[in-house]
Amino acid sequence: MAAARFIIPFLALVFGLALGIKLPQNPDENPEPLKWWQQEIIYQVYPRSHQDSDGDGVGDLAGIQSRLDHFDELGVGAVWISPIYKSPMKDFGYDISNFTDIEPQFGTLESFKNLSSALKERNIKLIMDFVPNHSSDEHPWFNMSINREGIYDDFYVWKDPKGINSTTGEPIPPNNWMSVFGGSAWTFNEQRQQFYLHQFVAGQPDLNYENPEVTKAILAAVKFWLDMGVDGFRVDAVPHLFENQTFADEPVDPNRPPTALPTDWAYYQHIYTYNLPGVFDFLARFRELLDIYTWADGIERVMFVEAGVPTLDLLMEYYGTPERPIAHFPFNFEFINRVKSGFNGTNIGDVVDEWFTKMPEGQWANWLVGNHDNGRVGSRFSPSAGIVDAFNALVLLLPGNAVTYYGEEIGMQNANISWEDTVDPAGCQVGPDRYQQFSRDPERTPMHWNDDQNAGFSTANKTWLPMHPDYPEVNVEAQKNSTENSHLKVYQLLSALRQTDVWRYGSLESQAPENGSLFGFSRIYNGKGFICLFNFVDEIQTINVPQVFENIPQNATVYSTSVGFQPETAVGTTIGTDNVVIGARHSIILEF
Ligand code: GLC
Ligand code: MG
Repeated sequence: MAAARFIIPFLALVFGLALGIKLPQNPDENPEPLKWWQQEIIYQVYPRSHQDSDGDGVGDLAGIQSRLDHFDELGVGAVWISPIYKSPMKDFGYDISNFTDIEPQFGTLESFKNLSSALKERNIKLIMDFVPNHSSDEHPWFNMSINREGIYDDFYVWKDPKGINSTTGEPIPPNNWMSVFGGSAWTFNEQRQQFYLHQFVAGQPDLNYENPEVTKAILAAVKFWLDMGVDGFRVDAVPHLFENQTFADEPVDPNRPPTALPTDWAYYQHIYTYNLPGVFDFLARFRELLDIYTWADGIERVMFVEAGVPTLDLLMEYYGTPERPIAHFPFNFEFINRVKSGFNGTNIGDVVDEWFTKMPEGQWANWLVGNHDNGRVGSRFSPSAGIVDAFNALVLLLPGNAVTYYGEEIGMQNANISWEDTVDPAGCQVGPDRYQQFSRDPERTPMHWNDDQNAGFSTANKTWLPMHPDYPEVNVEAQKNSTENSHLKVYQLLSALRQTDVWRYGSLESQAPENGSLFGFSRIYNGKGFICLFNFVDEIQTINVPQVFENIPQNATVYSTSVGFQPETAVGTTIGTDNVVIGARHSIILEF
């Protein structure tokens, strides 16, 4: 398409008092190489949706193993696989009935070993998803706890009823604590005649970390996987690990969302069930165990924690201190929590700047835009294709870890899942009127490999979740073979830039204009560099780059543009940096 077809409302851009952040380049003449976990892209595999090898409509380990080329083609160096342990699947694997065995739907310990060594052969690290807060109600420990057997008696959090409801005759829960998925966090067990706590579904009883035997048993499971050769863990839902032993009611949150019901988790302030100090003691022990393995052979075993705490200051505590290290990083959910539809460049700038301002010295940042609990990035914002590439560029090129949720590399969208097809307990629990607000099924539909039946994911008549109907166009093969630009091709270019010293050791300068229309950041190392410019509004914009950013030369080469970039600017051409034109909701990367 010719640029002449566009009427371009050139905005006079005033970056004015834009408050950006500046981080210097690595000052060492020969900087220390980055650690593997700092350098490598971490790709999240949702195992039920990656690749099905046996035609049952559910992904499995052999399926993942058959798709390893894709990781190489993306330049992915580490995979985090959501839980694959034995599980009745009440929360699709986050309810574990054996912490040291593989779920038969996914394979066996043998298929795990095969996958693990195939990954090692390609030098791809393997990160397990570990769920310490709860087990499945079908775990043998729970059964022994119901029967008050030996050390298992208080392996879980048991409490007597507060009383008996005089009209229904039902036992009354000990307090007002709610499950994250809605409704009381307590379920009565007839046999033991007590309530047990479950901060998620009833099939996920909370382990009792007041009991030192629990910590021992859980760390033994961690050790089992370390001995199997895994490279680290994504540790699930850690703020839920400890409960205040007064078991007092939690107060109503004065800032609760207006739509929250008294039976919703979001209705309360979780001062007695969330982010208690014991969490850090437990995680410090977890980390010590990892470090023993790291010290033995020099290859770092890592811990990434999921801690959805309300402020960045609280989150940063999960890095620990030099004296007591905790996580290698706590996941950075700021692009999900703080960047909402209708966002602008200022919001993005604030997220970037605040992370670096608040991160403790010597720590390493991380960036992500999606996961199995949040709507896909292409659907959360405008359907504009350019947005997908913009967010992939932010995630991959800012200094820090990049975490990619499967399908982000091809711009997968949320699927529309009917109530009948809904399987996620977070959706099922709240009923047909509200399930769309809570269900996580839309972002969990199977991966699109090609335009065959079920996108090449499975030969089954019915896949565990319906396929997104856009797969004939949006799939890996089509984007690989396309003669035009594609999300996948952009992703590959971004990934390649991570292999440069500019990305590894370069400075960072970020800028957002006061009117919120743009965001940009440059990375420069010893005079060489790149700059990413993002236009987040509906008008084409121009920018005089050297006027805004430091140390930008007069000319630069177009390294990559978002899919459908307008007005068309060919990759590889040299352009003047004083007049860079960026299409509406598009982004461009220049190299110099
Ligand atoms: C974490 C997981 C989520 C799961 C929950 C309970 O938040 O990301 O998917 O439902 O923990 O384990
Ligand atoms: Mg299968």
